[in-house]
Amino acid sequence: MYDASTQKEFIQRGKVFLQHPEKVSSDQLPILRKLLRFHEWKYYVKDNPVISDFEYDMLFKILERIEAAHPDLITPDSPTQRVGSDLSSDFPTVSHLSPMLSLENSYNADDLKDFEKQVRKLTGEENPITYVVEPKFDGSSVALIYENNYLVRGATRGNGLQGDDITPNIKTMPTVPLSADFSARGIHKVELRGEALIRKDYFEAINEQRAKEELPLFANPRNAAAGGLRMKDPKEAAQRKLDTFIYQLTYAEDAEGRDATQKFSTHSEMLQYLSEIGFLIPNDLIKVCKNISEVIDFCQEAERNREQYPYEIDGMVVKVNRLDLQQKCGLTAHHPRWAIAYKFKAKQETSILEDVVFQVGKVGAITPVAKIKPIELAGVTVSSVSLHNEEFIRSKDIRIGDHLVVERAGDVIPYIVKSLPELRDNSVRPIVFPELCPSCQTPLVKEEDMAAWRCPNYHCPEQVIQRMIHFVSKNAMNIDGMGESQIRKFHDLGWLNNFDDIYRLPFDEIQKLDGFGQRSVENLKKAIEMSKNNPIHRLLYGLSIHHLGRKASKLIAGQIKHLLDLKDWEMERLTAINEIGPILAGNIIAFFKIPENVSLLQSLEALGVNLNQKEEDRPKALPTDGPLSGKTILFTGKLVQMNRKEAQDLAEKAGAKNISAVSKNLNILVAGEKAGSKLKKAKALGTVDILSEQEFLDLVNGMANG
Ligand code: IVH
Repeated sequence: MYDASTQKEFIQRGKVFLQHPEKVSSDQLPILRKLLRFHEWKYYVKDNPVISDFEYDMLFKILERIEAAHPDLITPDSPTQRVGSDLSSDFPTVSHLSPMLSLENSYNADDLKDFEKQVRKLTGEENPITYVVEPKFDGSSVALIYENNYLVRGATRGNGLQGDDITPNIKTMPTVPLSADFSARGIHKVELRGEALIRKDYFEAINEQRAKEELPLFANPRNAAAGGLRMKDPKEAAQRKLDTFIYQLTYAEDAEGRDATQKFSTHSEMLQYLSEIGFLIPNDLIKVCKNISEVIDFCQEAERNREQYPYEIDGMVVKVNRLDLQQKCGLTAHHPRWAIAYKFKAKQETSILEDVVFQVGKVGAITPVAKIKPIELAGVTVSSVSLHNEEFIRSKDIRIGDHLVVERAGDVIPYIVKSLPELRDNSVRPIVFPELCPSCQTPLVKEEDMAAWRCPNYHCPEQVIQRMIHFVSKNAMNIDGMGESQIRKFHDLGWLNNFDDIYRLPFDEIQKLDGFGQRSVENLKKAIEMSKNNPIHRLLYGLSIHHLGRKASKLIAGQIKHLLDLKDWEMERLTAINEIGPILAGNIIAFFKIPENVSLLQSLEALGVNLNQKEEDRPKALPTDGPLSGKTILFTGKLVQMNRKEAQDLAEKAGAKNISAVSKNLNILVAGEKAGSKLKKAKALGTVDILSEQEFLDLVNGMANG
């Protein structure tokens, strides 16, 4: 449909338009429309977008602005005159009771203030206007029809006017009631709108499983949800474990066919009612705001917390609460004028691969790292992204000079989603993997079944440096004031070749170096001194034994009296510890069989570093057959029957592990009086069992039912 040079032209033109949106004139309307249609085709038909959603939105806005200034130039086939289509021929096509529109987007406080101004103008309202702010879940929209209280139809959005009838798939979702009591409100027939979504953790589990089965991975939860809705076999749809959140009641009639939407006077009242009769409404994430500044605060707060939600959220939706005011605002062909989306900062952008560097890790693994033209992702500038290994580069066909799609989901490290080969020109060149270590020039080796090439030279300068960085890091020996730059400097000066050198550093010399004041040297000295007293699991973890993580280090440390006891440990003894497999066990044994490693530890001990297991550091073994064994627990709020410490001791005796933060790793939250944000967060997660103090006591005393 579009040849390569046309595609390239559209993409380049788009970039030019985006660089100077104010310069785009009405003469350019035809090309602007053409390139928007091209991007819609890439997105909807080819499922392979070549610009970010944000860039598309911006181009769309330019078109809207010019058309608003020249209404006579609007053509019936302009992208503004319809909403995107995802119709498929696999399902019967059905008409929606009212069009499924899109939302206008806003990106900052000023945009929201402009929205308020427009609402005032349209409604003539002079009193404060109340808004409902809801999450904008990033899934796939659905329209549900109930008649006589029964779910009779579920459809996709399709082209906004007609969608795919996917009723059997909709019926597999436990969050969609098959019947609900609408008649109590005199409603006979009703259409609801909602968003079908997949939980982030379940999405990850699905992808893990798909990786095992060597199936292509889903790029994001939205694609997994959209695909799930369209499975031909409802059993497969059910396996995606989709949930549907309802955000709108768009149509209602009574038994005589009269409009019944007037049974409600506000949007929040409508949501409240839907929640009461069994629909999934994200109550904890919805706020009724008294004015636009409350709206702005709540949107910004939600953006800061976006990663805490169990579902992907790409923004908030701001809606005028009073339904009579909504009516006064009216609709355009594209969106309602009484609502606006507040989009969070983009997580996905395109960039260009400028170079690839090869980093040597602490156990010698060579990692290719992409140096890209800096871009901003979810509020952070990204210029380096891991390319993992040779296979990753090969499977994604990534070349130097390529346009890349880069994603960063909150705390998650940036990830290269794909390259865009359609944008290539003759200047791209392949990424050539080195044969020699970039640090010490030793020939690289690749062990069987391993993805990474490795430098086999234990004394490779870069490996030494990386091991040092790990040794002093927060979770290992935790030596403050000794970062990468100090380590590189001390190594260059010949002062740091092994861990014991840290405890022999020439502080008098250091003080003479540029950038080291008396104070910083004193602090460094103190931090090094303190590290001598660390529990031995920190030292063990700091040694950079291949595959040995923090958890296993703690488990091993819990079973020895002195670190050098491990010299005599055999395979069976190590693998008897849960979590330790034969490969890790082999690495530990190999480490302690090397005489230099043993003498290194002896040298550390002679320099005052603790190698003994101290009683207070010994991890407490939790009972494995208690009523709470295997569970994590957290207490919040004021307890009345016992204090916090007593409660935690009781929990441990019952087999639970006390943890300090609400996250998806938390199983039980015991909420005392006046529980606040932790309770709210746990509720929002939806995976945490929330118990009262009494319920907790009943449970540990074995009185709970079931
Ligand atoms: S109201 C009449 N509320 O965003 C306007 N939409 O960009 C309809 N969405 O197709 C939208 N969360 O699938 C609304 N709380 C929410 C939403 C929401 C997600 C989706 C919806 C719509 C798209 C518009």
